[in-house]
Amino acid sequence: MQREHWKSHMGFILAAAGSAVGLGNIWRFPYIVGENGGGAFVILYLLCIAVVGLPVMLCEFILGRKTEKDPVGAYAALSNGNKFWKFVGFMGVASGFIILSYYSVVGGWTLSYILKGLSGQFAQLTAPDLALSNFMGFVGHPVWPIVFHAAFIVLCIWIVHSGVRQGIERWCDILMPALFVLLVILIVRALTLPGAGEGVRFFLQPDFSKLSPKIFLVALGHAFFSMSLGMGAMITYSSYVQKKENLWKASLWVGGLDTLVAFLAGFAIFPAVFAMGFSPEGGPGLIFKVLPAVFAHMPGGTYLWGTLFFVLLAIAALTSGVSLLEVVTAYFIDEKGYARHKVSIVSGLVIFLLGIPCALSFGCMGGFKVFGKTFFDCLDYLASNILLPMGGLLICVFVGWFWGIRYALEEAHSGAEGVKEIVWGKIWGFLVRFLTPVAVLLVFLLKIGVFK
Ligand code: PHE
Repeated sequence: MQREHWKSHMGFILAAAGSAVGLGNIWRFPYIVGENGGGAFVILYLLCIAVVGLPVMLCEFILGRKTEKDPVGAYAALSNGNKFWKFVGFMGVASGFIILSYYSVVGGWTLSYILKGLSGQFAQLTAPDLALSNFMGFVGHPVWPIVFHAAFIVLCIWIVHSGVRQGIERWCDILMPALFVLLVILIVRALTLPGAGEGVRFFLQPDFSKLSPKIFLVALGHAFFSMSLGMGAMITYSSYVQKKENLWKASLWVGGLDTLVAFLAGFAIFPAVFAMGFSPEGGPGLIFKVLPAVFAHMPGGTYLWGTLFFVLLAIAALTSGVSLLEVVTAYFIDEKGYARHKVSIVSGLVIFLLGIPCALSFGCMGGFKVFGKTFFDCLDYLASNILLPMGGLLICVFVGWFWGIRYALEEAHSGAEGVKEIVWGKIWGFLVRFLTPVAVLLVFLLKIGVFK
């Protein structure tokens, strides 16, 4: 069967950027910047994107387009069916499965916060503590988090089920520009509040004294999650790319957009937080605890700005959720020959079921611990601290040492006539063979607690 391809160049870039731009950018990035030395962290993060993120992204793009297969098929095709490498591909598919099951729970929260905004509920959440107890009441409920988790999965299934062009590309073509417009509107709103400057200062003022090797690794770990690397999401998306596409440029675009959105999210959040006189509480509570209180005090915040912010967050989460489901779906289509509509529904359903204990981790199943963590935290730890870094390390080893830089470069240069092949090929080859794997190995060891 002829493989489906993205209709346009822009379609591919927006879909891949849609995968990359997610909760990681809007929820996590701003608070880790705030916690870890502001501008100094930003510089480090940019370095990590350049030295690790972009080279690994190019590796994934190359494998995907060369083989036109899902991650398992891609590794199998280039290693003559070697069992170990097939297993590495399989780890990616499993990661998609695992990440989506808890990602979708948070996606569901964002949907429910849109409704809270529309119904004017932020008006009562005038202090962070009130917002927090409201939040805890919601996530601890035995039914609602599951209902919204289901709604989020249904949206993902709906888009993936409609196909690469008709579903993913069509929706990303609409949702990604919408996301940018919303973000810009929210930034303008936040920056024009009296007292906004304090927030900008907090976000950007470099505090080099906070820099430490550990922070470096935090930056690297986040770069990975944020760019959707290490699990084959980018392999899968690039398996629908045409040969005339310039993969070098594409990775710059996708990495650039991902970083830009993360950066801009900080400008939408911190100025508003400071202008309303709250403390940023560097931590995950920022979005669901501090922001509702910020909206309660902002002129027009209760209905308009609050709702728009959570629409923004939901869009970001949805386009990432879609890419996670697509990895699983593509695997079953390519390797098992099933039909897209069936696979997307059945995988979505199984992911939904796995997500139920995650959705209940903040309520009735909170006492159920695996390795001392709730089910939700356990899956998050497994995926983002173990599976993704390992996947990233192994893809570098595969491309750099097993399959061979020479073949990879041949593929990279198709469609990239303008690129200075020799110079960039040498730099990229060096990064993929030496620098990137060592850096990723360090992160991996840190994450699993070797350096504590
Ligand atoms: N990049 C997404 C985010 O920033 C998360 C994600 C990871 C999506 C891996 C797909 C694959 O939230």
